[in-house]
Amino acid sequence: MTTVRLNASQSVSIETDALIVGFHATPEGPRTAPGADGLDQAFDGRLAEILTTVGFAGKAEEIAKIPTFGALPAPVVIAVGLGAAPDGDYDLETLRRAAGAAARTLAGTASAVLALPAATAEQAEAVAIGGLLGAYTFTKYRTNGDAKAPVGELAVSSTAAGAEEALRHATTLAGVVGLVRDLVNTPPSDLWPGKFAEIAQEVGAEAGLTVDVLDDEELRKNGYGGIVGVGQGSIRPPRLVRLGYTHPEATQTVAFVGKGITFDSGGLSLKPAASMDWMKSDMGGAAAVFGALLAVSRLGLPVNAVGYLCLAENMPSGSAQRPSDVLHTYSGKTVEVLDTDAEGRLVLIDGIARAAEDSPDLIVDVATLTGAQIVALGWRTAGVMSNDDALREEVVEIAGGQGESAWGMPLPEELRKGLDSPVADIANLQPERWGSMLAAGIFLREFVPDGIRWAHVDMAGPAFNKGEPHGYTPKGGTGAITRTLIGIAERYAGN
Ligand code: BES
Ligand code: MN
Ligand code: ZN
Repeated sequence: MTTVRLNASQSVSIETDALIVGFHATPEGPRTAPGADGLDQAFDGRLAEILTTVGFAGKAEEIAKIPTFGALPAPVVIAVGLGAAPDGDYDLETLRRAAGAAARTLAGTASAVLALPAATAEQAEAVAIGGLLGAYTFTKYRTNGDAKAPVGELAVSSTAAGAEEALRHATTLAGVVGLVRDLVNTPPSDLWPGKFAEIAQEVGAEAGLTVDVLDDEELRKNGYGGIVGVGQGSIRPPRLVRLGYTHPEATQTVAFVGKGITFDSGGLSLKPAASMDWMKSDMGGAAAVFGALLAVSRLGLPVNAVGYLCLAENMPSGSAQRPSDVLHTYSGKTVEVLDTDAEGRLVLIDGIARAAEDSPDLIVDVATLTGAQIVALGWRTAGVMSNDDALREEVVEIAGGQGESAWGMPLPEELRKGLDSPVADIANLQPERWGSMLAAGIFLREFVPDGIRWAHVDMAGPAFNKGEPHGYTPKGGTGAITRTLIGIAERYAGN
């Protein structure tokens, strides 16, 4: 795993495998951004000309590698674009993405120096986290020796007050995001509900969390009909994991609930093959909740936090639930299962109803819930719905501050009618596809007890990157919304 350290000496004179330098695009060509004093001189003032010659303009996330031939101790300068110079402060996400884009090129090297703008601790943290997240690789299943190890050590050049602490914070966050990505990337043959629960138990206990696991028998006995119904088609039974963290100075309790479908085949309402191959990522919500609770504990935040991982494998079989089955859920309400592929909401409502018993100040659920989220907002922007306008805006704002794109979505009352069931209290699906991200939100809201502030984050698109890597986001599991949850816990800490 990549480590990060602070560098307070002059970046250009450091012995390292690569010196990473930021450039702004200007009408006169690329211009070095703050952080790389002395670099232009080392190239006899010809660096901009060299970069222009190789076609580098300084656009955001653009990369050029320039050999130094002894002009510096580092054998190569990696130029990374930051776009136009900002009017005021640097946008933190621009710094994260630039650091990430540069770090993605470093696999196989031992060390690099990130000489990017880092005049404040906040900026140093952005550079560090972007670098660490960009350096991520998942090579566990490669046997041919081609896979390169991630860069060993990143040094962040900064003399800002508080930079050491900022780097520690970045290290904690990047560590849990890396774990979330690993879990999402792990094939479902190696990550099933029981296995996920074991990992939560082991790693959670190490981090100082209390971890309670309900197995399928206990789930059945205690009335968790949603989780049981979804999980009953698999030979690998479901689990509900409760992660708990308390702090003596806490005045508030946050509850996070994550959808943890370790594989979503659709169940008897089987998915077409083309929509199934990436459904190992359908536990991304639970992974994000797990990562967030680990971070809350490792950071020692003065807040109480609980996390619920609603774990099941959605499979078709002779024991699978059938369309038209009615589930008795933990809330006491009955649900008619019209489509076994709308399973995420079934496990979540049991988690939400259980979380409400902890009397939290707010519940946030995170789920790869609907394809409609991707239709509405695309691959990179999560939808946020809530029974409380202020909480919805707060979640969107906190996500934005972390560079995790999220957008507020409504819960239109008229959609509730579409969920009426002729036999049960509610159906798990509306008959038409229009607005089905919102209908899923309306469904979940029915299971939030009155008086509890609740927000729902649908990250079907953002959780898994099927496209090319960009910024600090790799292909595959992204770790999306993990840092948002940590940000929420931090917001509710100590006030
Ligand atoms: N896990 C899927 C949603 C999903 C789709 C996540 C694409 C990531 C990428 C979810 O369980 C699902 O199957 N949703 C259905 C619901 C429908 C049957 C109401 C959907 O969105 O098509
Ligand atoms: Mn599904
Ligand atoms: Zn699903």
